[in-house]
Amino acid sequence: MAKMEAKTSLLDNMIGVGDMVLLEPLNEDTFINNLKKRFDHNEIYTYIGSVVISLNPYRSLPIYSPEKVEEYRNRNFYELSPHIFALSDEAYRSLRDQDKDQCILITGESGAGKTEASKLVMSYVAAVCGKGAEVNQVKEQLLQSNPVLEAFGNAKTVKNDNSSRFGKYMDIEFDFKGDPLGGVISNYLLEKSRVVKQPRGERNFHIFYQILSGGSEDLLCKLKLERDFSRYNYLGLDSARVNGVDDAANFRTVRNAMQIVGFMDHETQSVFEVVAAVLKLGNIEFKPESRVNGLDESKIKDKNELKEICELTGIDQSVLERAFSFRTVEAKQEKVSTTLNVAQAYYARDALAKNLYSRLFSWLVTRINESIKAQTKVRKKVMGVLDIYGFEIFEENSFEQFIINYCNEKLQQIFIELTLKEEQEEYIREGIEWTHIEYFNNAIICDLIENNQTGILAMLDEECLRPGTVTDDTFLEKLNQICATHQHFESRMSKCSRFLNDTSLPHCCFRIQHYAGKVMYQVEGFVDKNNDLLYRDLSQAMWKANHSLIKDLFPEGNPAKINLKRPPTAGSQFKASVATLMKNLQTKNPNYIRCIKPNDKKAAHIFNDALVCHQVRYLGLLENVRVRRAGYAFRQPYEPCLERYKMLCKQTWPHWGGPARDGVEVLFNDLEIPEEEYSFGRSKIFIRNPRTLFKLEDLRKQRLEDLATLIQKIYRGWKCRTHFLLMKKSQIVIASWYRRYAQQKKYQKIKSSAIIVQSYIRGWKARKLLRELKHQKRCNKAVTTIAAYWHGTQVRREYRKFFRANAGRKISEFILQKIIQKYFLEMKNKMPSLSPVDKNWPARPYLFLDSTHNELKRIFHLWRCKKYRDQFTDQQKLVYEEKLEASELFKDKKALYPASVGQPFQGAYLEISKNPKYKKLKDAVDEKIIIAEVVNKINRANGKATSRIFLLTNSNVLLADQKSGNIKSEVPLGDVTKVSMSSQNDGFFAVHLKEGSGAAGKGDFLFSSDHLIEMATKLYRTTLTQTKQKLNIEISDEFLVQFRQDKVCVKFIQGNQRNGNVPTCKRKNNRLLEVAVP
Ligand SMILES: Nc1ncnc2c1ncn2[C@@H]1O[C@H](COP(=O)(O)OP(=O)(O)O)[C@@H](O)[C@H]1O
Ligand SMILES: [Mg+2]
Repeated sequence: MAKMEAKTSLLDNMIGVGDMVLLEPLNEDTFINNLKKRFDHNEIYTYIGSVVISLNPYRSLPIYSPEKVEEYRNRNFYELSPHIFALSDEAYRSLRDQDKDQCILITGESGAGKTEASKLVMSYVAAVCGKGAEVNQVKEQLLQSNPVLEAFGNAKTVKNDNSSRFGKYMDIEFDFKGDPLGGVISNYLLEKSRVVKQPRGERNFHIFYQILSGGSEDLLCKLKLERDFSRYNYLGLDSARVNGVDDAANFRTVRNAMQIVGFMDHETQSVFEVVAAVLKLGNIEFKPESRVNGLDESKIKDKNELKEICELTGIDQSVLERAFSFRTVEAKQEKVSTTLNVAQAYYARDALAKNLYSRLFSWLVTRINESIKAQTKVRKKVMGVLDIYGFEIFEENSFEQFIINYCNEKLQQIFIELTLKEEQEEYIREGIEWTHIEYFNNAIICDLIENNQTGILAMLDEECLRPGTVTDDTFLEKLNQICATHQHFESRMSKCSRFLNDTSLPHCCFRIQHYAGKVMYQVEGFVDKNNDLLYRDLSQAMWKANHSLIKDLFPEGNPAKINLKRPPTAGSQFKASVATLMKNLQTKNPNYIRCIKPNDKKAAHIFNDALVCHQVRYLGLLENVRVRRAGYAFRQPYEPCLERYKMLCKQTWPHWGGPARDGVEVLFNDLEIPEEEYSFGRSKIFIRNPRTLFKLEDLRKQRLEDLATLIQKIYRGWKCRTHFLLMKKSQIVIASWYRRYAQQKKYQKIKSSAIIVQSYIRGWKARKLLRELKHQKRCNKAVTTIAAYWHGTQVRREYRKFFRANAGRKISEFILQKIIQKYFLEMKNKMPSLSPVDKNWPARPYLFLDSTHNELKRIFHLWRCKKYRDQFTDQQKLVYEEKLEASELFKDKKALYPASVGQPFQGAYLEISKNPKYKKLKDAVDEKIIIAEVVNKINRANGKATSRIFLLTNSNVLLADQKSGNIKSEVPLGDVTKVSMSSQNDGFFAVHLKEGSGAAGKGDFLFSSDHLIEMATKLYRTTLTQTKQKLNIEISDEFLVQFRQDKVCVKFIQGNQRNGNVPTCKRKNNRLLEVAVP
């Protein structure tokens, strides 16, 4: 404990106190002063236990950097100075680690910094949760949904330059690892009256100004807009430009954000077209026109704007024009059309603009949800961030403020429920001694507004649905009747006597004493705004638009889906959605950020005590501190508490065997914590003062450091020893391996040396042996040789006498043998060529070889002739056989023969088959033709010659006319007996026929031919093969032929040279035919 005193807790170093629970003494002044002191030192965050109070600095502070994020990441809530990041971290970690769904409730007046706070929470969570491409895209889309919604849903008000004019609740969904999966945004009641009218000093929604300032010329031209704000009735003039706000730059941010969130280009374009159409609607003006029945009817003043709107939205101009001048009321089966007067026309126009814009806004939220919704169906953990419009009190407050403030009442209610009430109930549950703290419970105000029978909203609905004339005044009257006795309701007519004299209250107003102050509401417009009426003609006109987005926005305009039932009123819708929201919040673990506005001027450094004091009061912050203080600042179930601090005491470290509660008791006793500082609940330990907790934390930190050092020490020792042992083991392994290697080397060396020595000795021994063996062998050989010589000498001496007698013959035989051998060997080299006609033959070397030499010549000639013949083909063989035959028949017998040797025997000189002239002849002869030749047939009568074709076949000799080819005569070979010819150099020959044969009628034939030798030879051979008889060939210079009856002698004589070289033939007389051969 002494050590604990010496050390200061983190909070001790702070400006003022960081946690109001520590404030001494506690009263309103010290509370405000503490806030102020901290505010002056740029400390805008202060805790009340786990609730964060945030003061709007109205300037940017350097406390949101990534380094700060790292600083707060994974740290205990009380470890660092108060920050919104500490709360975000706590919420995120208990979501991730303890699986508790969280909600962050941000409350405060308009301009107190709620929206900024919600963005800070989201960006912190985005920075510390999982990373990765997919996760980053989800984060980016979640964060970028903010600028889009702010552009369309925020506006400058007198309280805040960027005031949210809608309520927003965003569920961020995480998987079990704490990685974001997606989100769902719910929006609550956009303040749409702002579209058509803004209070003095305020602006319309940002997007209108952003498009006009930031849109390119091209875009403006497409949207048919002009850059000049003053051109548009719907843009209040007095504060079109806001200091420090760059609409053009914001427009770029918005477009970029839309792209990131996933809007397609055409979708963005459609959205801008709707915005432009709304803006232009404001410029449509009406004028009255009297009608016959005396009523006024409205007419559009200038139709140009209408025309442009219709072009932009694809609505038929006449349809829209009619919707602005008539109203159709349908009741059961009837349809009644009435004309609108100018006021009604304006009302219709504004209703259309408001509806268009607010439906566009809801569409945007749906569209964003589509983009950011989680893609998986796994169980999700949820962190809800609620940023709803803050409590508002304006000079003139209307239905919107009423609704907004109702919502804030409900939030205060849930704060009370979950913080003050729940806390006190917990003490009772845990059996802790407890003195009750009084606080204001605003349930009574909630009841005044939302009670189903007597609540203001219920009465408003009743009034709206009631038949008969309904005005705001009748509504006020009703309120006066029912609520007059309510403590928090005041009006001129209220029965509560306290207020009867209250002249500060105008007639058409009522006042409600909200938890945050009194607010006076003008009843004017309540009924209308609650009804939220849009003439059906207009919604039908919109549905007919040739513009898919606008068509989607007005589904009830579809005549097929006509619904005569009234839509729920704005009030009841809002009540229902707030109820759902509250139910949703109650299921989650709440984390509070209570925003406080330091001044009304939106200025930095100014701290308006009165203003802050007012907020502190109505937010019930002092009560909050008191409850916290009277109770215990900190509580925790025993198990986690013991788990967290068990290292501070020897008995509980490292394990405590008994029940956790006893362990905690032992622990706290050991630490000597004063007994009044804590008390034991049924399941939790309660610690009164945060200071105790901080001290515990400090001790724990110190102890953790020591433990870390211990662990480090042991680990290092273990590590070094393991390392050493490993090294030692390795060393032994290495050494053994090395020794083995060295021994192996040594052994191998010795072994190889031994082998070398061995081999030398063996070699030497072997050589010695070889030498001895050689010597022995030589000795043996020498003995044999000597013996042989000796024997030889003996034998020769004995046989010498026999040798001399036969020597001469043996020598001559030997020499002869040598000579013959030499002859044959030389002959081999001197052989003549292989040509059979080659006459060369080498000369004989010795006379005694003469006969051998000639015989050898003959054998060689025969052999080479055979060789030559062997080369012949069958064809050639036939030719040579014929030639041989011819030579046997005619050589040295007929002078004509030598000339025929060189002529090849062709046989068929006439190619009968090829000549068409002889076709008939060819057909008549069906045998093989051996000779086909033209010969001269000698006329038997006068010796003159005529040409005839001579054909020799295998069996016949045929004669045919040379011109016609007609066969003249045919002689079978058997009938040819003889052929005669001279011995001279002429071609005459006679063919003798067998006497009495068929062809022999005219007698023998006498021919002359150039190929006599060939013809005769072929005739001879054919006859031989055919008849097996040798044809008689007579060679004589005088022979007889048989002509008819006569025998004529043919005589060959040496004639003169008169007729040149051709032999001539002449019939000399009956008995003689003379042939003269030159
Ligand atoms: N933490 C902060 N740091 C710097 N400026 C802030 C901070 N919180 C709020 N502001 C300023 O206050 C203005 C109003 O804050 P906002 O969150 O819009 O208020 P609310 O949503 O409560 O109406 C912001 O536009 C911003 O200029
Ligand atoms: Mg806001």
